[in-house]
Amino acid sequence: MKRVSSAFYLVLASVLLLSCNQDKTVSDTPDNSQLLSDNIEFALAQMGKQIEIIEASDEVLNPVTVRPDGSVYYCGYRDWRSGFFPGAVWYLYDLSNDPSLKEKAIKYTEAIEEAQFLTSHHDIGFIIGSSFGNGLRLTNNEAYKDIIVQAAKSLTTRFREQPGVIQSWDSDRGWQGERGWECPVIIDNMMNLELLFDATEYSGDSLFYNIAVSHADRTLEEHFREDGSTFHVIDYDLEDGSVRNRHTAQGYSHESAWSRGQAWAIYGYAMCYRETGYQRYLDQAIKAFEFLRDHPDMPEDLIAYWDMDAPDIPNALRDASAAAIIASALYEMSTFPVADAASYKEYADKMMASLSSDAYRAELGTNGNFILMHSVGSIPHDNEIDTPLNYADYYFLEALKRMRDIEGL
Ligand code: GLY
Repeated sequence: MKRVSSAFYLVLASVLLLSCNQDKTVSDTPDNSQLLSDNIEFALAQMGKQIEIIEASDEVLNPVTVRPDGSVYYCGYRDWRSGFFPGAVWYLYDLSNDPSLKEKAIKYTEAIEEAQFLTSHHDIGFIIGSSFGNGLRLTNNEAYKDIIVQAAKSLTTRFREQPGVIQSWDSDRGWQGERGWECPVIIDNMMNLELLFDATEYSGDSLFYNIAVSHADRTLEEHFREDGSTFHVIDYDLEDGSVRNRHTAQGYSHESAWSRGQAWAIYGYAMCYRETGYQRYLDQAIKAFEFLRDHPDMPEDLIAYWDMDAPDIPNALRDASAAAIIASALYEMSTFPVADAASYKEYADKMMASLSSDAYRAELGTNGNFILMHSVGSIPHDNEIDTPLNYADYYFLEALKRMRDIEGL
């Protein structure tokens, strides 16, 4: 979300040099400057409509998705997705410099301030990072640091000593309570670790950092198959820390490769590398990406099926949210000291071209005023199937911002 390493300048220089020396014509290279301005123009108009609706209401509505009846679903601060709309407004402000968006982003962010005290699930990192994290980056409001540190304290209440991980979900209530789990940890939880790294930076307390590293290391040991694909849920024994189950919740089957889980793994380990400099995290991010990149069923437009083992491939639904998360991660990875760094950016550019096409980007005023169509929440729960999702838009805008920064557009 924040730092671009100095290695990026090196990479950028080699990319420029390479492109000057090649015979390839400009038409071989996507025109990202056009793609960027076109997307900003569209997002301003589309999200502008969303904002008009919110401002005309007496509440601070927080849009998430479109229900089957066509109405927009708005969430409260407890929902794991409550930070993404405020965060998308921050990114649009960053991309457009429109000062009216800053005012709105502050209002929508501060409306979910209570989330800093949430201890009932692990998603506080998603919630606070996308909203207050971006707010801090763009306003330097020091008070947001206290909120980030408090949120990290709330998250650490879920750290379990024996397995050395943060428990994602409670196992005694909701649909999770029916699965017989003791300490379920989902690969998505890698994303919440950024909050802990930030909290150590702002508070000077290394406890947060150490918990993040413990969680990332245990996840690295347990969550991956030989081929780099990830299990969704690992259930640990709280007494001796051993693995009780390797399951799925949102994928096609326990043994399948759920694409958004793969996306969280790529992004999560790339972020952990940025925060720690540990090569093992970068290697894991690369391995998780290569699994998808080299998958024989990866479609030509590079937008993965919702699960790469879905039985109805090639007719299975795609998941634009997974693609947006991966594109954003790949832009960051292209700034790391990796072999063939330019190929990560090239891949992300292709994904962004697909997401920006009519196949995935909505028409103005449709799609509940969300930007991207065709995401999948959870097929096993029969929930949010082939819909817009606010986190697809959030990571799409983040990817645009990263592309802009890398290319100096
Ligand atoms: N963290 C939930 C999801 O990716 O659907």
